[in-house]
Amino acid sequence: MDTTDRVTIALDTQLPSYLLSTTLTIVAFYFAYKLFKYSCQTIHFPGPKGSWYNGNLKELLADNAHEYWVKWNREYGQIFEVHSSCFSRLIFVGNPEVINHLCLRNYLKDEKVYNGFKYLSGNGLFSQLDPVQWKKQRSALAPSFSHANVYQQHHIMQEYMNILIEKLDLAIEQKKLVNISNEITLITIDFLGEIAFGQTFDALKLGENCLLMQLLQSILPELIKCAVFPLRGQFPILRVTRKMHEDIKKLRSICQASIKTAREMDESDRLFKKERIFEILATTKSSNGQYVFSEKELIDNYVTFLVAGGDPTASAITFALYELCRTENEQILRKAQEEVDELLDGRSDLINEHDLNKLKYLDMIIKETLRLHGPGFGTIRKLKENLTVNGITLPKNTSLYIWNYPVHRDPRIWSEPDIFNPENFRNVDAGEVKMNGSYFPFSHGPRKCLGLSLAMAEMRFILATFIHRYHFRLADNFKMIEKSSFTLCPSNGLPVYITKRI
Ligand code: HEM
Repeated sequence: MDTTDRVTIALDTQLPSYLLSTTLTIVAFYFAYKLFKYSCQTIHFPGPKGSWYNGNLKELLADNAHEYWVKWNREYGQIFEVHSSCFSRLIFVGNPEVINHLCLRNYLKDEKVYNGFKYLSGNGLFSQLDPVQWKKQRSALAPSFSHANVYQQHHIMQEYMNILIEKLDLAIEQKKLVNISNEITLITIDFLGEIAFGQTFDALKLGENCLLMQLLQSILPELIKCAVFPLRGQFPILRVTRKMHEDIKKLRSICQASIKTAREMDESDRLFKKERIFEILATTKSSNGQYVFSEKELIDNYVTFLVAGGDPTASAITFALYELCRTENEQILRKAQEEVDELLDGRSDLINEHDLNKLKYLDMIIKETLRLHGPGFGTIRKLKENLTVNGITLPKNTSLYIWNYPVHRDPRIWSEPDIFNPENFRNVDAGEVKMNGSYFPFSHGPRKCLGLSLAMAEMRFILATFIHRYHFRLADNFKMIEKSSFTLCPSNGLPVYITKRI
């Protein structure tokens, strides 16, 4: 190829100049418009200074972003602003009265953020942005998560717990160091796989080779990036983003197949068992004989349960166990063990669903864990008009971050905010904590977590079984590192030595 050919090819592959100049003009106008809109904002709050081009983005995307939120809340007050680029800001709302108002009145979720989750969960409850559709869906789904239905799922947890006990007993015999955080993740996947997909995925048996586990590991970290940077999901240039889209398709088609089977069985077998939340939802019919949920609505929601439910529950159990393993919390562990021992009265059985609610001290431990290490960050809302609450005016069209981690560690609300102390929750019912809007690990108001009772039952059962049967000792020099990811999670697991207690 001679030089002339090379020049011709180079020119052919270049953009025509008129196209280039039009693109540049559009981009310039876009930025000028954003800058103009940003400079028109009149309501401002104090906040950390960031770099001129990407504001506080570095801190917001850091693994320890949660620590920055705590620091900023203590430094700049209960309402502050941070910037995710030079002209894009978000406002942190940590004032309990304002949180109460925004959540109880159920102001809309911020579509810019929640649209990013739609790749996975479509118009499922979590990412549903139309208030009328949300209300309809919420009231149709809620009965399946009633206490009575949650009780019905208990035997599934017991079955998986028996598998886990076998695994742990073997590790004890072999004197192995166990990363108990992995085992907790696997049991929650098994449990939710059954409840949400009506299938056995054998996560505890297969570990890393479990299909559901592999799909979630590929989807979740990328999904959160697509929620923060919407263009990433819309234009999947990166291989990881394309892989995420492919794996979402796989996950949804597994779910679709389960629904088809359940509905065929329901039509053909009059005695078809409907105990699991999966079957209850898939086969519920309205008075006109039609299924209440379309196939797509079911898939959107089943996938939501799997993702919204698995990760935070597993992290919360790991954080609670970590606190109970620490030498400074020895007395707390002893009290919790006495409570379970008394309930089981010397028996080595697994706790039944009715007894779970009697573990009042264990409940205080779980609530305190969710205060100090709440894995579900909170909720993000947006106003259509400026709003004044408690003398504070919040601007319209700005993302309002109602994050529990900094509020749960606010020294204006909690006397020793950084110390693990279950006594914070003595004589406090789940619903009427100290002050509304100051404790909300499951969010607050009508859009609070749908799976709250299920998650509480799972946490109580797994923790109670663990502390009743085993002694756990943290690996030498282990220090828990919390990471801000899809949820707040333990980034270095929880390595423990286990011995039998009964
Ligand atoms: C410890 C465990 C859990 C924690 C800390 C937690 C926390 C939360 C939080 C903070 C929200 C609000 C999210 C937002 O507004 O952006 C939420 C919503 C939700 N959670 Fe959970 N969750 C847990 C377990 C579960 C489980 C087990 C399920 C279901 C199986 C579940 C299903 C949902 C659903 C469907 C929503 C959306 C509710 C709506 O918008 O109406 N969660 N959760």
